[in-house]
Amino acid sequence: MVKDDMTEKPVKHKRRVRYSGTHPRKFREKYKELDPEKYPDDVERVKLRGQTPAGMHLPVCVSEILSALGLRAGMHGIDCTLGYGGHAVEILRRITPDGLLAGIDVDPGELEKTEIRIRKLGYDESVFVTRCMNFSEIQSCLDIFPGGVDFILADLGVSSMQLDTPGRGFSFKNSAPLDLRLDNSSGETAAALLLRISEESLVALLVENADEPYAEVLGKAILSRRMECQTTVGLASVITEVLQGEGLPSNECKPSIQRVFQALRIEVNNEFEALDELLHSIPDCLKSGGRVAILSFHSGEDRRVKKSFKGLTELGIYSECVRRPVRPSFQEQYDNPRSSSAKLRWAVRS
Ligand SMILES: C[S@@+](CC[C@H](N)C(=O)[O-])C[C@H]1O[C@@H](n2cnc3c(N)ncnc32)[C@H](O)[C@@H]1O
Repeated sequence: MVKDDMTEKPVKHKRRVRYSGTHPRKFREKYKELDPEKYPDDVERVKLRGQTPAGMHLPVCVSEILSALGLRAGMHGIDCTLGYGGHAVEILRRITPDGLLAGIDVDPGELEKTEIRIRKLGYDESVFVTRCMNFSEIQSCLDIFPGGVDFILADLGVSSMQLDTPGRGFSFKNSAPLDLRLDNSSGETAAALLLRISEESLVALLVENADEPYAEVLGKAILSRRMECQTTVGLASVITEVLQGEGLPSNECKPSIQRVFQALRIEVNNEFEALDELLHSIPDCLKSGGRVAILSFHSGEDRRVKKSFKGLTELGIYSECVRRPVRPSFQEQYDNPRSSSAKLRWAVRS
């Protein structure tokens, strides 16, 4: 036992987490990655292997976003999807000392951790404020910025922290209840959705949210075995069995598993409705000449962003918008494979 200097109370020595082999495999064994301030070299080594360290998110298309937003010192803006704060910190570096950034996110747990991290970098309430809320309500931020903002960023989807934390049910690598909520403090889980949804609605959702080619057969099987599909691994096993029955080798079942998880996640979090409301509200929040940049990760999102930016440019509400989406460089896709499906679109308020 060692003693705590201040209280003289004995502090119990914690044994280091043990794992077999040379690299930790399970999330809870990755104690060095989960403490990046204490083990920066270990975290760098994980990044060099092309992996995202546990408990962290590598921001995507950073230089492309910074140039699309045309940031300058003194600007005011909103990061609609704060996540780990990778983009937010780069933005703060460019808009301070006189600028102001509001960082919003629906995930209360991750928002709190990110705020603490950003405060430790020296950004106080005069330059950085946070709100735990859905970006569909972005207009409510006009009480912080009554005259509107110079820029808005949205980096859609889930963060690596959400994907990789086993208990949150986003990944089928670990067994966990099938949750899939971004805000795990409220709303219906994917497990609960599967207990009440009809076969017809499930098939439609797999097609609309993820273009799943085996939607019919998977929708039928998932609902007839819905109790087995209450966990991440259970759902993944049912999908694999069904597709193998259709003649697919087991190594070709993974894309369908990912698409089913994506489709359920989009449904549980009303992601398309939230994005539509955000796209509708952005022009009311931007000052004249203000810029918006949106990074999306699948076709359902990108189609919506493209349609909104193009339509509002034709109406003269935006003075210009990007013609073809900006993609991450080959180097970034190699360094961070999670960036490979990203598409960035931007527009400028008239
Ligand atoms: C891809 S991550 C953002 C990563 C961030 N740009 C960074 O550099 O770390 C997406 C984040 O958006 C949040 N999010 C997704 N949909 C949201 C919504 N409708 N309203 C607010 N936050 C949302 C998620 O909780 C997640 O933290």
